Amino acid sequence: MAIKNKTILLTGGAGFIGSQLAKRLIEHNKVVIFDNLHRNALKYTNIESHPNVTLIRGDVLDRDALFEATRGCNIVVHLAAIAGVDTVMEMPTLTIKVNLIGTLNALDAAVEHKVERFIDFSTSEVFGSHVYMAEEHNATTLGVVGESRWTYAVSKLAAEHLVHSYHKEYKLATVTIRPFNVYGPQQVGIGAIHTFVVDALKGNDLVIHGDGNQIRAWCYVDDMVDGTLLCLEKDEAVGHVFNMGNPRATVTVANLAQLIKRLCNSKSRIVYGYRDYVDIELRIPSIKKAQTMLGYWPKIDLEEGLIRTIEWYRSTLSD
Ligand SMILES: NC(=O)c1ccc[n+]([C@@H]2O[C@H](COP(=O)([O-])OP(=O)(O)OC[C@H]3O[C@@H](n4cnc5c(N)ncnc54)[C@H](O)[C@@H]3O)[C@@H](O)[C@H]2O)c1
Repeated sequence: MAIKNKTILLTGGAGFIGSQLAKRLIEHNKVVIFDNLHRNALKYTNIESHPNVTLIRGDVLDRDALFEATRGCNIVVHLAAIAGVDTVMEMPTLTIKVNLIGTLNALDAAVEHKVERFIDFSTSEVFGSHVYMAEEHNATTLGVVGESRWTYAVSKLAAEHLVHSYHKEYKLATVTIRPFNVYGPQQVGIGAIHTFVVDALKGNDLVIHGDGNQIRAWCYVDDMVDGTLLCLEKDEAVGHVFNMGNPRATVTVANLAQLIKRLCNSKSRIVYGYRDYVDIELRIPSIKKAQTMLGYWPKIDLEEGLIRTIEWYRSTLSD
């Protein structure tokens, strides 16, 4: 049953995934977007002017503002975070604060205002650097202290533990999602697909850091939004954590660069550069749990998703 007639708070709703989720919810629900606009994908949409949308410029570290925004909301989808390796490396302290304390504030606001459901966006990074068909009940892996990449993972994992505690102790109806490499139109943070597509369209070199053998499974944003809606709709989801991604769209970074170059019809060179950060060598999810419990099944294969994404970047860059 599609979600209808609810008031839904999206923290981080101006971001890549949040803005796409908002688009799908606004027809039948009121959506409150609470975001400090550290990133802003809304500028590529016209949803801000939709009568069912309220945009509040606020920070999840501002408890009072967040509590006020949660008043009258039935559902909270908590997406606000400092994400993306480059940003996390620049701001490791803020990363911990926003991702952990921001989640604590969102949970407290949800309890205070008795929301019906709380969706928490965690990350596949909690599995560490070698993830082959990882299932949700498998142990999480923590990397070396001092590596900013793991600062992000730890902040998200600690937030996950907090979310589960609130479910147990306060009976808050929580669901945790672990997204695996989401891409698509309006991605405002920097990621491999964003960077390769922009460079391929501009004719710049596509720079691969390291030997290009790193393996990823790429999830088109519409499939991520479909999975999130299932977590909102299905009662079976409550109290659980779900991997969300597309294991069929698995490719090495070098193959991804070649594919993007071909689909962009680009004359860019593919070059190999030095890698000065910890990377994920292998990351492919198992989505068996989401499939069996929620009926989740990603529909957009890599080539189709890339074609749609490239079209969007082509039209946006030419504006
Ligand atoms: N995109 C992915 O591949 C991916 C993978 C794993 C996990 N995730 C998680 O999914 C969620 C959404 O990711 P996204 O790709 O849309 O990222 P995004 O950066 O585009 O969106 C995050 C939003 O949070 C907002 N924000 C940041 N700090 C804030 C603060 N202090 N107060 C209020 N708002 C703040 C930003 O302005 C941004 O709009 C995040 O929690 C992220 O960690 C995403």
